[in-house]
Amino acid sequence: MPKPGASEAPAKNASAPPGAAALEIRDTRTNESYSLPVVDGSIRATDLKKIPSGDADGGGLMSYDPAFLNTAACRSAITYIDGDKGILRYRGYPIEQLAERANFLEVAWLLRHGELPDQKEYDKFEHDITYHTYVHENIRKFLEGFRYDAHPMAMLNSAVAALASFYPDSRNIFDAEQRNISIIRLLAKVPTIAAFSYRHVKGLPFVYPDNDLSYVENFLSMVARMSEPKYEANPVFVKALEILFILHADHEQNCSTSAVRAVGSSHVDPFSAISAGIAALFGPLHGGANEAVLRMIGEIGHPKNVPAFIEEVKGGKGQRLMGFGHRVYKSYDPRARIVKQLADDVFKIVGVDKDLEIALELERIALSDDYFVSRKLYPNVDFYTGLIYRSMAFPTEFFTVLFAIARTSGWLSQWEEMLLDKEQKIARPRQIYVGPGEREYKSKLSAARSGGKAAKKDALRQ
Ligand code: ACO
Repeated sequence: MPKPGASEAPAKNASAPPGAAALEIRDTRTNESYSLPVVDGSIRATDLKKIPSGDADGGGLMSYDPAFLNTAACRSAITYIDGDKGILRYRGYPIEQLAERANFLEVAWLLRHGELPDQKEYDKFEHDITYHTYVHENIRKFLEGFRYDAHPMAMLNSAVAALASFYPDSRNIFDAEQRNISIIRLLAKVPTIAAFSYRHVKGLPFVYPDNDLSYVENFLSMVARMSEPKYEANPVFVKALEILFILHADHEQNCSTSAVRAVGSSHVDPFSAISAGIAALFGPLHGGANEAVLRMIGEIGHPKNVPAFIEEVKGGKGQRLMGFGHRVYKSYDPRARIVKQLADDVFKIVGVDKDLEIALELERIALSDDYFVSRKLYPNVDFYTGLIYRSMAFPTEFFTVLFAIARTSGWLSQWEEMLLDKEQKIARPRQIYVGPGEREYKSKLSAARSGGKAAKKDALRQ
């Protein structure tokens, strides 16, 4: 084998057509050169297989990318993010314009279909969703079976998975009609299940959907209605929730969306795939962050304790400034800007409290501290959402459920895009095996556990 740095051989194994953009690389192990086509700023990981790995298994070269930091797993036309510039667009429309002018169902349609709905399309869509909000009574009974203190995300996750058993035809995922009705059912029923889980934890009777109300108003009615014959939600809260749902509707290939795509790639029904997304969202590093922000603020207790807390975070003893930092945004999360404005509107009604003061102080100090600035750690969408939700009287453990209601629209759009993408197959990453080589089995169990019949009899007699 030539030594590293030996003179370059002409490109063999070329896979890029002449004249096409290509990455010319030389393998210093063999002195072979390769030409890998570059399309859309990417090389195909499978093109690397043309290069021998040099390992005993004789397979081609792989790329090693734990947590998919630099791997595009799909081509998607749904959501565009420029993390450095702080840009977020759904189907080309800036998030700021959608948050200001659209409503959530319009955005849900846009995400799935690629264009804004016209009046006729919107009316039918809204009607279909409104008339699928009821759940089978057995789902209600199923939810009643949970412990009084069950986390509503665990209830939501289980009940959405259980829906698969009520709609067996949903397994026909390549039947466009079945796909459509499953998508309508999920968009319609997730808020109902979410509200039922809220009422269960509160020990309140379930409130059935009210078909006269809008999507958001109906949800608030199922959550908050008591004895009044008709629930009238505070319009500022309705508007705030509408905007928060829009902001959370999609965020390209995040952890939960990747979970939906990966599970959906096995061609399971959409209820099971969406429940995988809910499970991923439950984690504190993802959708659970707004809950974690409030807990953190509670622990800080007073604005005067903020500098000491920041020092603790910088000490790197495991404590993170929750609601700060993002895998993709390396500048201010555009959603956080909108949420901060929204918080101002909501707090004008409910009044500023100590926790908001702590949040403002955390943000002020962190944005001027070199630790956070040098690591490009800015507030993310979750930094202020928890404070808004709490001011609307939602309990902390319900915040992620609100996120899940909104994100269901994005998950479904991504799931369908994945299914119809001819390039997609069942998700199946590779690995680099680092475990022991072959070795002979020698039991370490006691004779009674591993021995023959006699030994087992002895063990039973004891
Ligand atoms: N507080 C303090 N330090 C942080 C934080 C934070 N919130 N986030 C990242 N860092 C530091 C890391 O310690 C690391 O420092 P080092 O280089 O000295 O080791 C550096 O910044 C890079 O951090 P990574 O963990 O490599 O960044 P990654 O992109 O993997 O993490 C994440 C992104 C998970 C969001 C992270 O910033 C975090 O844990 N934030 C707090 C949780 C949170 O708010 N999550 C919500 C995300 S938004 C959403 O899901 C809707």
